[in-house]
Amino acid sequence: MKYKKYFRKTSLKQKNIGDLFLEEIQKNNPKSFLEIGVFHGVTARNVCELMNKNHGADFSYTGIDIFDEGDEFKDEVAPVKTFNNPLKNFYFKYIKKQNPYSLEAVEDLLSKFKKNITLLKGNSNEVLKNIELEKVDFIFIDGGHEYNTVKNDLAHSHRLLKNKGTILCDDLNLSQALGVRQAIKEFSDENKIKYEIVHERFAKFNFN
Ligand SMILES: C[S@@+](CC[C@H](N)C(=O)[O-])C[C@H]1O[C@@H](n2cnc3c(N)ncnc32)[C@H](O)[C@@H]1O
Repeated sequence: MKYKKYFRKTSLKQKNIGDLFLEEIQKNNPKSFLEIGVFHGVTARNVCELMNKNHGADFSYTGIDIFDEGDEFKDEVAPVKTFNNPLKNFYFKYIKKQNPYSLEAVEDLLSKFKKNITLLKGNSNEVLKNIELEKVDFIFIDGGHEYNTVKNDLAHSHRLLKNKGTILCDDLNLSQALGVRQAIKEFSDENKIKYEIVHERFAKFNFN
């Protein structure tokens, strides 16, 4: 399946990386997906399309994001929220009349899958403490890039998977976010779980 951008921003923007990401997901063929860090919902929509193609209506997607532009989260290395393309700014401001970086706009983008999705607005350092997912078999960690946040996201993802499934962590090698790599390495050493480096940017942990 081809990764589509839906006229929005995504962290999987470089040439072909979205397609390679979907190929990686396809290998594990998940039915129940958790994404930490939803942003405009582009990956969410692509993953829902893929799971729908593979499993019909029998899939679930949960997404967590702060959806907050305040200064409180500036250390998390969040992407720039505005578009360079003025047409896109015009489209969201005057036609859609929505902020693409909001729970409402992502709900709208995923509306064809509304029975399958759950979107949670909040800081993953708090939200993850309070959730139990009955079944989840694939977790994509792409939220806050601060060391403590990635450590927290990894620990809770490990707990939620109950030793079965996959964690894919983005930005292993991002020079502006060295805490990501440190957290991944420490998680791997502390739990004696090896990870595979995929396409030079993802760390993949497989549990079975
Ligand atoms: C790189 S973007 C995610 C991109 C998205 N996964 C995609 O593929 O297009 C990171 C997102 O994480 C969110 N974020 C940052 N810190 C967070 C935190 N502590 N808890 C939850 N979400 C967070 C930001 O709001 C931002 O939308």
